[in-house]
Amino acid sequence: MTDQAKELEKLTQIRTEALSVLADVRDEEALEAWRVANLGRSSPVMHVFSSLGQLDKELRPLMGQAANEVRTALEAALEEKQHLLKEAALRKALETEQLDVTMPGRPVERGRLHPLTQVLRRITRIFGDMGFQVYHSPEVETDDYNFTYLNMPPYHPARDMWDTFYTKDEGVLLRTHTSPGQIRVMRERAPEPIRVILPGATMRYEQLSARSEIEFAQVEVLVVGEGVTFAELKGTLEDFARRLFGEDARTRLRPSHFPFTEPSAEMDVGCFVCGGEGCAVCKETGWLEILGCGMVHPVVLEYGGYDPLVYSGFAAGMGIDRSTLMRYRIDDIRHFRNNDIRFLRQF
Ligand code: DAH
Repeated sequence: MTDQAKELEKLTQIRTEALSVLADVRDEEALEAWRVANLGRSSPVMHVFSSLGQLDKELRPLMGQAANEVRTALEAALEEKQHLLKEAALRKALETEQLDVTMPGRPVERGRLHPLTQVLRRITRIFGDMGFQVYHSPEVETDDYNFTYLNMPPYHPARDMWDTFYTKDEGVLLRTHTSPGQIRVMRERAPEPIRVILPGATMRYEQLSARSEIEFAQVEVLVVGEGVTFAELKGTLEDFARRLFGEDARTRLRPSHFPFTEPSAEMDVGCFVCGGEGCAVCKETGWLEILGCGMVHPVVLEYGGYDPLVYSGFAAGMGIDRSTLMRYRIDDIRHFRNNDIRFLRQF
Protein backbone atom coordinates (compact mmCIF):
# COMPACT_ATOMS: atom_id res chain seq x y z
CA MET A 1 0.00 0.00 0.00
CA THR A 2 1.26 3.47 -0.79
CA ASP A 3 1.61 6.06 1.97
CA GLN A 4 -1.24 7.96 0.44
CA ALA A 5 -3.49 4.93 0.45
CA LYS A 6 -2.57 4.19 4.05
CA GLU A 7 -3.36 7.68 5.21
CA LEU A 8 -6.70 7.66 3.40
CA GLU A 9 -7.52 4.28 4.84
CA LYS A 10 -6.86 5.69 8.29
CA LEU A 11 -9.29 8.54 7.74
CA THR A 12 -12.01 6.18 6.53
CA GLN A 13 -11.50 4.12 9.64
CA ILE A 14 -11.77 7.19 11.88
CA ARG A 15 -15.00 8.09 10.22
CA THR A 16 -16.53 4.59 10.33
CA GLU A 17 -15.63 4.09 13.96
CA ALA A 18 -16.91 7.47 15.06
CA LEU A 19 -20.22 6.96 13.28
CA SER A 20 -20.71 3.48 14.69
CA VAL A 21 -20.13 4.75 18.25
CA LEU A 22 -22.52 7.63 17.58
CA ALA A 23 -25.25 5.21 16.54
CA ASP A 24 -25.31 3.85 20.09
CA VAL A 25 -25.47 7.24 21.80
CA ARG A 26 -28.77 7.52 23.73
CA ASP A 27 -28.61 10.75 25.70
CA GLU A 28 -27.20 14.27 25.79
CA GLU A 29 -24.41 13.38 28.14
CA ALA A 30 -23.09 10.58 25.98
CA LEU A 31 -23.39 12.82 22.97
CA GLU A 32 -21.21 15.48 24.57
CA ALA A 33 -18.59 12.85 25.42
CA TRP A 34 -18.72 11.67 21.82
CA ARG A 35 -18.25 15.24 20.56
CA VAL A 36 -15.13 15.74 22.71
CA ALA A 37 -13.67 12.38 21.69
CA ASN A 38 -14.37 12.70 17.96
CA LEU A 39 -14.28 16.38 17.18
CA GLY A 40 -12.33 17.74 20.17
CA ARG A 41 -8.79 19.08 20.02
CA SER A 42 -7.14 15.69 20.64
CA SER A 43 -9.55 13.64 18.55
CA PRO A 44 -8.14 11.38 15.78
CA VAL A 45 -9.39 13.64 12.97
CA MET A 46 -7.85 16.71 14.56
CA HIS A 47 -4.67 14.75 15.01
CA VAL A 48 -4.58 14.21 11.24
CA PHE A 49 -4.76 17.96 10.75
CA SER A 50 -1.96 18.71 13.17
CA SER A 51 0.33 16.10 11.63
CA LEU A 52 -0.18 17.23 8.01
CA GLY A 53 3.19 18.98 8.23
CA GLN A 54 5.00 15.69 8.52
CA LEU A 55 3.61 14.40 5.25
CA ASP A 56 5.10 14.75 1.85
CA LYS A 57 4.34 18.05 0.19
CA GLU A 58 2.33 16.44 -2.62
CA LEU A 59 0.31 14.45 -0.16
CA ARG A 60 -0.67 17.37 2.07
CA PRO A 61 -3.51 19.03 0.06
CA LEU A 62 -5.12 15.72 -0.67
CA MET A 63 -5.03 14.57 2.94
CA GLY A 64 -6.12 17.99 4.17
CA GLN A 65 -9.18 17.88 1.94
CA ALA A 66 -9.99 14.30 2.93
CA ALA A 67 -9.69 15.11 6.66
CA ASN A 68 -11.94 18.14 6.12
CA GLU A 69 -14.59 15.96 4.55
CA VAL A 70 -14.46 13.58 7.50
CA ARG A 71 -14.76 16.42 9.98
CA THR A 72 -17.72 17.97 8.11
CA ALA A 73 -19.44 14.58 7.97
CA LEU A 74 -18.96 14.04 11.70
CA GLU A 75 -20.27 17.54 12.49
CA ALA A 76 -23.37 16.93 10.36
CA ALA A 77 -23.94 13.58 12.08
CA LEU A 78 -23.59 15.29 15.47
CA GLU A 79 -26.18 17.89 14.56
CA GLU A 80 -28.62 15.31 13.32
CA LYS A 81 -28.19 13.25 16.46
CA GLN A 82 -28.81 16.31 18.66
CA HIS A 83 -32.05 16.90 16.82
CA LEU A 84 -33.14 13.26 17.17
CA LEU A 85 -32.39 13.21 20.90
CA LYS A 86 -34.43 16.37 21.46
CA GLU A 87 -37.41 14.94 19.63
CA ALA A 88 -37.20 11.66 21.53
CA ALA A 89 -37.06 13.54 24.84
CA LEU A 90 -40.20 15.53 23.91
CA ARG A 91 -42.06 12.41 22.81
CA LYS A 92 -41.20 10.68 26.06
CA ALA A 93 -42.32 13.67 28.14
CA LEU A 94 -45.64 13.81 26.33
CA GLU A 95 -46.17 10.11 26.94
CA THR A 96 -45.24 9.98 30.61
CA GLU A 97 -46.41 13.41 31.81
CA GLN A 98 -49.76 13.27 30.07
CA LEU A 99 -49.83 17.00 29.54
CA ASP A 100 -52.83 17.83 27.39
CA VAL A 101 -52.58 21.45 26.39
CA THR A 102 -55.97 21.31 24.68
CA MET A 103 -57.76 20.53 27.96
CA PRO A 104 -60.01 23.41 29.12
CA GLY A 105 -58.77 25.33 32.16
CA ARG A 106 -60.36 25.28 35.60
CA PRO A 107 -63.40 27.57 35.55
CA VAL A 108 -63.27 30.57 37.87
CA GLU A 109 -66.21 30.58 40.28
CA ARG A 110 -68.31 33.66 39.68
CA GLY A 111 -70.23 35.25 42.50
CA ARG A 112 -73.67 36.76 42.08
CA LEU A 113 -76.22 38.81 43.95
CA HIS A 114 -78.83 37.23 46.18
CA PRO A 115 -82.26 37.15 44.45
CA LEU A 116 -83.71 39.50 47.09
CA THR A 117 -80.82 41.92 46.58
CA GLN A 118 -81.43 41.82 42.83
CA VAL A 119 -85.11 42.70 43.28
CA LEU A 120 -84.27 45.39 45.85
CA ARG A 121 -81.80 46.96 43.46
CA ARG A 122 -84.33 46.99 40.64
CA ILE A 123 -86.88 48.68 42.87
CA THR A 124 -84.29 51.18 44.08
CA ARG A 125 -83.31 52.03 40.51
CA ILE A 126 -86.93 52.57 39.47
CA PHE A 127 -87.61 54.98 42.33
CA GLY A 128 -84.22 56.57 41.76
CA ASP A 129 -85.24 57.29 38.16
CA MET A 130 -88.36 58.98 39.56
CA GLY A 131 -86.27 61.26 41.75
CA PHE A 132 -86.47 59.42 45.07
CA GLN A 133 -83.60 59.25 47.56
CA VAL A 134 -82.70 56.14 49.58
CA TYR A 135 -82.85 56.53 53.33
CA HIS A 136 -81.69 53.92 55.83
CA SER A 137 -83.19 53.70 59.29
CA PRO A 138 -82.44 51.36 62.22
CA GLU A 139 -83.59 47.75 62.40
CA VAL A 140 -83.73 47.92 66.19
CA GLU A 141 -86.41 50.46 67.04
CA THR A 142 -88.30 51.85 69.96
CA ASP A 143 -91.92 51.10 70.68
CA ASP A 144 -92.67 54.77 70.01
CA TYR A 145 -91.29 54.80 66.47
CA ASN A 146 -92.64 51.37 65.54
CA PHE A 147 -96.14 52.04 66.92
CA THR A 148 -96.99 55.22 68.86
CA TYR A 149 -95.75 57.79 66.33
CA LEU A 150 -97.52 55.79 63.64
CA ASN A 151 -100.83 56.48 65.34
CA MET A 152 -100.91 53.33 67.49
CA PRO A 153 -100.77 54.41 71.13
CA PRO A 154 -99.93 51.84 73.82
CA TYR A 155 -102.66 49.22 74.29
CA HIS A 156 -104.26 50.12 70.97
CA PRO A 157 -105.59 46.89 69.42
CA ALA A 158 -104.15 47.87 66.02
CA ARG A 159 -100.77 46.79 67.38
CA ASP A 160 -102.01 43.22 67.20
CA MET A 161 -101.58 43.34 63.41
CA TRP A 162 -97.83 43.05 64.05
CA ASP A 163 -96.31 40.12 65.95
CA THR A 164 -93.32 41.70 67.58
CA PHE A 165 -89.93 40.67 68.99
CA TYR A 166 -89.26 42.64 72.15
CA THR A 167 -85.81 43.01 73.67
CA LYS A 168 -85.07 42.91 77.40
CA ASP A 169 -84.72 46.67 77.29
CA GLU A 170 -88.05 48.29 78.07
CA GLY A 171 -89.56 49.84 74.95
CA VAL A 172 -86.91 48.50 72.54
CA LEU A 173 -87.93 46.06 69.82
CA LEU A 174 -87.04 44.75 66.37
CA ARG A 175 -88.98 46.79 63.83
CA THR A 176 -91.94 44.94 62.38
CA HIS A 177 -92.05 47.15 59.29
CA THR A 178 -90.04 49.91 57.61
CA SER A 179 -92.71 52.50 58.45
CA PRO A 180 -90.95 53.87 61.61
CA GLY A 181 -88.34 55.23 59.20
CA GLN A 182 -91.02 57.67 57.98
CA ILE A 183 -90.89 59.47 61.33
CA ARG A 184 -87.08 59.54 61.31
CA VAL A 185 -86.91 61.11 57.84
CA MET A 186 -89.60 63.63 58.67
CA ARG A 187 -87.93 64.69 61.91
CA GLU A 188 -84.65 65.14 60.08
CA ARG A 189 -86.05 67.04 57.09
CA ALA A 190 -89.04 69.05 58.37
CA PRO A 191 -90.24 71.38 56.94
CA GLU A 192 -88.49 70.45 53.65
CA PRO A 193 -90.36 68.38 51.05
CA ILE A 194 -89.56 64.66 51.14
CA ARG A 195 -89.34 62.04 48.43
CA VAL A 196 -87.60 58.91 49.73
CA ILE A 197 -87.69 55.13 49.78
CA LEU A 198 -86.58 53.17 52.83
CA PRO A 199 -85.47 49.61 52.06
CA GLY A 200 -84.41 47.14 54.71
CA ALA A 201 -84.89 44.11 56.92
CA THR A 202 -87.97 43.74 59.09
CA MET A 203 -88.75 41.11 61.73
CA ARG A 204 -91.88 39.46 63.03
CA TYR A 205 -92.52 36.85 65.66
CA GLU A 206 -93.96 34.24 63.32
CA GLN A 207 -94.55 30.55 63.21
CA LEU A 208 -92.02 29.45 60.54
CA SER A 209 -93.62 27.98 57.46
CA ALA A 210 -93.23 27.82 53.69
CA ARG A 211 -94.88 31.25 53.54
CA SER A 212 -93.62 32.95 56.71
CA GLU A 213 -90.17 33.80 57.97
CA ILE A 214 -89.20 35.82 61.04
CA GLU A 215 -87.08 38.08 58.87
CA PHE A 216 -88.09 39.59 55.56
CA ALA A 217 -87.36 42.67 53.47
CA GLN A 218 -89.57 45.68 52.90
CA VAL A 219 -89.40 48.90 50.94
CA GLU A 220 -91.19 51.94 52.33
CA VAL A 221 -92.13 54.90 50.13
CA LEU A 222 -92.71 58.39 51.53
CA VAL A 223 -93.60 61.66 49.85
CA VAL A 224 -94.38 64.77 51.89
CA GLY A 225 -94.94 68.32 50.69
CA GLU A 226 -97.49 71.04 50.18
CA GLY A 227 -100.51 69.94 48.18
CA VAL A 228 -99.57 66.27 47.70
CA THR A 229 -102.72 64.41 46.63
CA PHE A 230 -104.07 60.89 46.28
CA ALA A 231 -103.81 61.34 42.50
CA GLU A 232 -100.05 61.54 42.90
CA LEU A 233 -100.04 58.41 45.03
CA LYS A 234 -101.96 56.56 42.34
CA GLY A 235 -99.87 57.89 39.44
CA THR A 236 -96.55 57.18 41.15
CA LEU A 237 -97.42 53.66 42.27
CA GLU A 238 -98.98 52.67 38.93
CA ASP A 239 -95.94 53.98 37.10
CA PHE A 240 -93.72 52.04 39.49
CA ALA A 241 -95.70 48.82 38.89
CA ARG A 242 -95.41 49.18 35.12
CA ARG A 243 -91.68 49.78 35.36
CA LEU A 244 -91.25 46.73 37.58
CA PHE A 245 -93.71 44.28 36.02
CA GLY A 246 -93.83 45.49 32.42
CA GLU A 247 -95.54 48.15 30.30
CA ASP A 248 -98.86 46.31 30.11
CA ALA A 249 -99.08 45.27 33.76
CA ARG A 250 -102.58 45.87 35.11
CA THR A 251 -103.05 47.30 38.60
CA ARG A 252 -105.95 48.06 40.88
CA LEU A 253 -106.37 49.88 44.19
CA ARG A 254 -108.63 48.39 46.84
CA PRO A 255 -109.79 50.32 49.93
CA SER A 256 -108.08 49.07 53.05
CA HIS A 257 -107.10 50.16 56.52
CA PHE A 258 -103.80 51.09 58.17
CA PRO A 259 -103.55 53.16 61.36
CA PHE A 260 -100.90 55.45 59.85
CA THR A 261 -102.74 56.36 56.62
CA GLU A 262 -106.13 57.87 55.84
CA PRO A 263 -107.53 56.97 53.42
CA SER A 264 -105.71 53.65 52.98
CA ALA A 265 -105.56 51.23 50.09
CA GLU A 266 -103.83 48.12 48.84
CA MET A 267 -102.50 47.76 45.35
CA ASP A 268 -102.85 44.54 43.36
CA VAL A 269 -101.12 43.65 40.14
CA GLY A 270 -102.56 41.27 37.55
CA CYS A 271 -101.14 37.82 38.40
CA PHE A 272 -97.84 37.49 36.54
CA VAL A 273 -97.93 33.73 36.78
CA CYS A 274 -101.23 33.07 34.98
CA GLY A 275 -101.71 36.50 33.39
CA GLY A 276 -105.00 36.99 35.26
CA GLU A 277 -106.68 33.72 34.27
CA GLY A 278 -106.64 32.42 37.84
CA CYS A 279 -104.16 29.91 39.24
CA ALA A 280 -102.87 28.44 42.51
CA VAL A 281 -100.42 31.33 43.05
CA CYS A 282 -103.15 34.02 42.94
CA LYS A 283 -105.66 31.66 44.56
CA GLU A 284 -107.85 31.82 41.45
CA THR A 285 -108.42 35.59 41.80
CA GLY A 286 -106.18 36.71 38.93
CA TRP A 287 -104.64 39.36 41.23
CA LEU A 288 -101.63 39.53 43.53
CA GLU A 289 -101.40 42.01 46.36
CA ILE A 290 -98.09 43.86 46.19
CA LEU A 291 -98.30 46.80 48.60
CA GLY A 292 -100.21 48.80 51.19
CA CYS A 293 -100.48 52.57 50.81
CA GLY A 294 -102.42 55.69 51.68
CA MET A 295 -102.29 59.38 52.54
CA VAL A 296 -100.08 59.97 55.57
CA HIS A 297 -102.34 60.31 58.64
CA PRO A 298 -102.42 63.84 60.18
CA VAL A 299 -101.30 62.41 63.53
CA VAL A 300 -98.23 60.87 61.83
CA LEU A 301 -97.40 64.13 60.04
CA GLU A 302 -97.61 65.93 63.36
CA TYR A 303 -95.31 63.42 65.09
CA GLY A 304 -92.91 63.97 62.19
CA GLY A 305 -92.93 67.74 62.69
CA TYR A 306 -95.13 68.73 59.74
CA ASP A 307 -98.30 70.82 60.23
CA PRO A 308 -101.08 68.70 58.68
CA LEU A 309 -103.00 71.86 57.80
CA VAL A 310 -100.15 72.93 55.51
CA TYR A 311 -98.53 69.66 54.43
CA SER A 312 -99.78 66.38 53.14
CA GLY A 313 -98.13 63.23 51.90
CA PHE A 314 -98.52 59.69 50.74
CA ALA A 315 -96.79 56.51 51.84
CA ALA A 316 -96.57 52.90 50.73
CA GLY A 317 -94.97 49.73 52.01
CA MET A 318 -94.19 46.53 50.17
CA GLY A 319 -92.77 43.18 51.15
CA ILE A 320 -90.07 41.90 48.85
CA ASP A 321 -89.88 38.24 49.82
CA ARG A 322 -93.37 37.08 48.89
CA SER A 323 -93.43 38.78 45.50
CA THR A 324 -89.96 37.42 44.69
CA LEU A 325 -91.23 34.02 45.75
CA MET A 326 -94.14 34.24 43.37
CA ARG A 327 -92.12 35.73 40.56
CA TYR A 328 -89.63 32.85 40.52
CA ARG A 329 -92.16 30.25 41.69
CA ILE A 330 -90.04 29.39 44.72
CA ASP A 331 -91.84 26.83 46.86
CA ASP A 332 -90.53 27.83 50.27
CA ILE A 333 -89.71 31.29 51.67
CA ARG A 334 -87.10 29.77 53.99
CA HIS A 335 -84.78 29.13 51.02
CA PHE A 336 -83.93 32.83 50.96
CA ARG A 337 -81.96 32.87 54.19
CA ASN A 338 -80.64 29.29 54.34
CA ASN A 339 -77.50 30.15 52.39
CA ASP A 340 -77.77 26.95 50.38
CA ILE A 341 -75.51 27.48 47.40
CA ARG A 342 -77.58 25.08 45.27
CA PHE A 343 -80.54 27.42 45.66
CA LEU A 344 -78.62 30.68 45.28
CA ARG A 345 -76.86 29.50 42.11
CA GLN A 346 -80.14 29.47 40.23
CA PHE A 347 -80.48 33.27 40.13
N1 DAH B 1 -96.21 48.96 57.27
C1 DAH B 1 -97.24 48.17 56.66
C2 DAH B 1 -96.97 46.70 56.95
O1 DAH B 1 -95.90 46.35 57.22
C3 DAH B 1 -97.24 48.36 55.16
C4 DAH B 1 -97.72 49.73 54.80
C5 DAH B 1 -99.02 49.97 54.49
C6 DAH B 1 -96.81 50.78 54.75
C7 DAH B 1 -99.48 51.21 54.16
C8 DAH B 1 -97.25 52.06 54.41
C9 DAH B 1 -98.59 52.25 54.11
O2 DAH B 1 -96.43 53.09 54.34
O3 DAH B 1 -99.01 53.48 53.76
O4 DAH B 1 -97.90 45.92 56.89
